[in-house]
Amino acid sequence: MYSKIALASVLFAAAKGQQVGTNTAEVHPSMTWETCTAPGACTTNNGKVVLDSNWRWVHDAKSGSYTNCYTGNTWDATLCPDDATCATNCALDGADYTGTYGATATGNSLKLDFITQGASSTTPNVGSRLYLMSDDKTYETFKVLNQEFTFDVDVSQLPCGLNGALYMVNMAADGGLSSTNKAGAAYGTGYCDAQCPRDLKFIEGSANVDGWTPSSTSVNSGVGTKGACCAEMDIWEANSISTAYTPHPGPSSIDVCTSDQCGGTYSSDRYAGTTDPDGCDFNSYRQGDKTFYGPGETVDTSKVFTVVTQFLTDDGTATGTLNEIKRFYVQDGTVIPNSESTVAGAGGNSVNVDFCKNQKIAFNDTDDFNAKGGFAKMSTAMAEGMVLVMSLWDDYYAQMLWLDSEAYPVASDPATPGIARGTCATTSGSPATIETSEKSAYVTYSNIKFGAINSTFAATPAKRSMLGATAGRPQRAA
Ligand SMILES: *[C@@H]1O[C@H](CO)[C@@H](O)[C@H](O)[C@H]1NC(C)=O
Ligand SMILES: *[C@@H]1O[C@H](CO)[C@@H](O)[C@H](O)[C@H]1NC(C)=O
Repeated sequence: MYSKIALASVLFAAAKGQQVGTNTAEVHPSMTWETCTAPGACTTNNGKVVLDSNWRWVHDAKSGSYTNCYTGNTWDATLCPDDATCATNCALDGADYTGTYGATATGNSLKLDFITQGASSTTPNVGSRLYLMSDDKTYETFKVLNQEFTFDVDVSQLPCGLNGALYMVNMAADGGLSSTNKAGAAYGTGYCDAQCPRDLKFIEGSANVDGWTPSSTSVNSGVGTKGACCAEMDIWEANSISTAYTPHPGPSSIDVCTSDQCGGTYSSDRYAGTTDPDGCDFNSYRQGDKTFYGPGETVDTSKVFTVVTQFLTDDGTATGTLNEIKRFYVQDGTVIPNSESTVAGAGGNSVNVDFCKNQKIAFNDTDDFNAKGGFAKMSTAMAEGMVLVMSLWDDYYAQMLWLDSEAYPVASDPATPGIARGTCATTSGSPATIETSEKSAYVTYSNIKFGAINSTFAATPAKRSMLGATAGRPQRAA
C-alpha cells in the first residue's frame, strides 16, 4: 500500500504542466436540457456543468501538500517564479459546488448564489461561472445559426449592480487540454471572451504570473500580462432592472494577447485587440422603452419568464450568414415580442445589420462592431460551435452602470440618446457595497431548449377568444 502511494506521487511530480489536485473529488453536477425539432417534439439531454478554473483552489501539486500557489490576489513566489514553472508546480483542485461556490444544479435548473461563505474558506466566494458539458471531459458546443436558444430565468433576486449572464464563447471543447494543461474541461479551463480577460490565472497551460498586478479593489483578483480573446454572444446579461443581448465579433478560437494589445476592459486602449469589446447591444430601456422590462412591467421581472433568442441567416439555412438576432419573451403563457426601439434612426425590435450600423450613429458610439467584422465575423464564430456559459458577477470596473444605470457615462446628460440604461442610481453597483448588502442575491437558469426556429416555444400568441372560452368554463367543484 505505501509503496503504491509513493509511486503515484513520483508520477505526479514527473508530470509536466497545469496539474490536477486530488484533495476534493471533482463531481460535475447534472443538468438536463432539451433538443427540439418542433413544438412539443423535444428530447432530453443528460448534461453536466463544470466550474471555471479561475474560481478553484490552486495549490502545490506535490502529493499531500496543501500549500497555496495563489492566496487572495497574489501568487506564491517560490512555487510560481514564472509562467511555465508555476504551471508545472501547481494543481487545480475539485470543487464543492454548493458548499463553497453556491452553485446548485437540480433537474433542469442551475441556481447561482452571489455570496457563499464556505465552511473552510477564509473569505466568502463571490459569484461564479459554469459551463455546460456533454460528458465529464468535454464542453457542449452549440451551432446556433438558423436555430433558437430558449431558457427560463429568475432574476427577481438580482438588484442593481449584479449581472446574471447566460452567453456563448468560442472556447475549445476540451478546455485546451494539452501536454502543459492536464486539467482541461473537467476542471473548467480554456476560458476566453470579447474583453480578452487578463484576470485569468492560467491560459493555454501556462500561468499568467508574469507581470501580475493584484487588484487594488478586489481581494480575489488581479491582472496579468496575457489575455484570452474570442468571439462572444451575450444571449442574456441582466438583473431585475435591465437586460441586454449583444453579439461581440472576434476570433473563432482562443487567441492569446499581450498587455495593452489585448484591448477590452483590462487594457488602456479598449479597441486595440482582435475582438469587439462593446458589441451591438439591444437593451430595451436604452432603446427607449422604459416600461417594458422590470418589476411589474410588461416582462415582469418579479416572476420567472422564458427568453427566446433566434439566430436567423440570410438564406434561412444553417450554412447561411447570420443577419438578424430576434428576441421573444414568454410569461404566464403569453408570447411577448421584444420591445420596439424608439430611437430616431435606429428603430425595429431586433439586432440586425441595419440596426448595428444605425444604433452606433444614433448613440455616437465607436462602431467597433463593424470594424471587427460585424455579422460576417460573428457568423464564422457561430459556425465553429460555441460553449454555453452561465454566470453571476459584479463589476469592479464600471459597477454594471453600462447595463442598468440612469446615465452611463455617468457625467453625460440622461436625455441624450443611448445614455440612460435603466433606473439604477449612478452611485449604485459598487462591489464593496453590494457584496455586503446583497448577500442573498441569486439567479436561476432552467428549462434550456435548443433547436429549429419556432420549435422551443408556442410561437403563436394565445388567442383572446380561446382565453375567453377557457375563462368562461364552469368551475370544477372542489
Ligand atoms: C461623438 O463622440 C466623439 C468622440 O467620442 C466626440 O468627440 C464628439 O463630441 C461626440 N459628438 C456628439 C455630438 O456628442
Ligand atoms: C416563426 O413564427 C413566426 C411567428 O408566428 C413567423 O413569423 C415565422 O415565419 C416563423 N418562422 C419559421 C422559420 O417558421
